[in-house]
Amino acid sequence: MTSPVLEMSNVSKTFGSVKALSNVQLTLYPGEVHALMGENGAGKSTLMKVLSGAYKPDAGARILIDGKPVNITDPISSKAAGVSIIYQELALSPNLTVAQNMYLGRELHSYGVVSREKMLKDVEPVLRRLGAQFTGSTIVGTLSIANRQLVEIARALHADSRILIMDEPTTTLSSRETEGLFAMIRQLRSEGLAIVYISHRMDEVYELADRVSVLRDGTYVGTLDRDQISPDAIVRLMVGRELSSLYTKTHKPDLSDAKPVLEVENVSDGTRVRNCSIKLHAGEVVGLAGLVGAGRSELAQAIYGFRPRTTGTMRLHGREFSPDSPRASINSGVAYLTEDRRGNGLFLDMSCRDNTNTAVLKRDSKWGFVLNRRKADERARGAIKDLKVRVPGPEYPVGGLSGGNQQKVLLSRWLEIEPQVLILDEPTRGVDIGAKSEIYKIIDALAQKGVAILVISSELSEVIGIADRIVVMREGVITGEVGGATGIAPTQENIIGFATGATAPVAA
Ligand SMILES: Nc1ncnc2c1ncn2[C@@H]1O[C@H](COP(=O)(O)OP(=O)(O)OP(=O)(O)O)[C@@H](O)[C@H]1O
Ligand SMILES: [Mg+2]
Repeated sequence: MTSPVLEMSNVSKTFGSVKALSNVQLTLYPGEVHALMGENGAGKSTLMKVLSGAYKPDAGARILIDGKPVNITDPISSKAAGVSIIYQELALSPNLTVAQNMYLGRELHSYGVVSREKMLKDVEPVLRRLGAQFTGSTIVGTLSIANRQLVEIARALHADSRILIMDEPTTTLSSRETEGLFAMIRQLRSEGLAIVYISHRMDEVYELADRVSVLRDGTYVGTLDRDQISPDAIVRLMVGRELSSLYTKTHKPDLSDAKPVLEVENVSDGTRVRNCSIKLHAGEVVGLAGLVGAGRSELAQAIYGFRPRTTGTMRLHGREFSPDSPRASINSGVAYLTEDRRGNGLFLDMSCRDNTNTAVLKRDSKWGFVLNRRKADERARGAIKDLKVRVPGPEYPVGGLSGGNQQKVLLSRWLEIEPQVLILDEPTRGVDIGAKSEIYKIIDALAQKGVAILVISSELSEVIGIADRIVVMREGVITGEVGGATGIAPTQENIIGFATGATAPVAA
């Protein structure tokens, strides 16, 4: 039995009145992928930020590396102890080169001048080892998200890390990029690195992890060994009970003679979307599937008035609908929840209440003043309760919330305007399994009330679980439809077939 590379115990962390961690422990062995799981706000990122030196733990924490106590006081001492972290939101400087980023904070100096040549030469072996398609002199801002992640990994390897932390690394990757990342992780594991892998995606954890540790409400609940790992076992530890069914479908769209609420005909955006037609009925949940880059978000944005439409017509309740801005779209009752969490328009230093209420402000206020403060408060409290947002109160700034809880606040904003058509783009990305099932229930309840819903999702099991029928896109074109009255079974195989153009669909 090898000895652990890392032992953390008695780790607590308090933010004001919030106890984010309470006597948490974690043990890592060299050459293992250790998944860290837990619901949104459970304390995963906070624990890792303690290890990376971004947060100072409360008194009493013990951190041993190779059996010896280390004093991690800041990111530099953490790095020196062999720890590297890839944050939930990437932290590279886009204007600098790959090499500069890899050296950030510890540039090579020769006679007081940063030696670019030396830096460039120095990072080359690491980049080659990772099979990077770019060089040390590439400007980071020109790279894809996947390649930026590779730069972060390169930075970690270059610093000779023994412990590599990845906080939800795949949320913005395509499936091919994810496969590439997994291959990389396996290689690093075989080289003896200890990898902490944070993810809400059960399939990834199942595929990668040697062990799983679970946090709940800031406390350590337990660790599962490889042969004990199953989705059920993990969920039981995470939520403290069985989760009977993830998907609820109680709504029943009556399509017998219903006119569509929204008709989209031959819409193009001039670049990524070509002649797309789609109909949404009241009370119907339609899935929009396809590979990353297929043009699903672009189609949604063209409908929403966020992108230009170069061809096509749209009708809302039979009348011409041609929004030239998101505002025009919202005023007509068509809302769109963006997938882009960073640029999504959450105001991080504003309260949860104000973020929930921004979309309805116009309706509730006159001459720019918020007339009904109490109503705004009620609304925020309702949203916090419905979506189970983990937040001390409606006054709390959104920036202090965990990633998944921020996503819920954003969702609440769009639910508040009571749209007739709701387009949700990856609504459960980064959201824990308990909250996912809450969001599915909300989608179902909205459909029950007659809202027409279009859900873009890259998680096939999700889209199959919640949608009445699924439209599939490939390279900007709608290539097929499954489920509903199509006669084609809504299976993963059939969807992938249309999404890749690979196989002929199998009849239901
Ligand atoms: N900088 C901060 N200021 C105040 N509170 C914070 C801060 N960072 C985290 N918290 C709180 O600590 C708790 C744990 O948050 P953390 O980000 O560690 O959760 P998480 O497990 O990573 O969740 P997620 O899956 O949503 O990313 C939450 O209640 C969060 O609101
Ligand atoms: Mg987190």
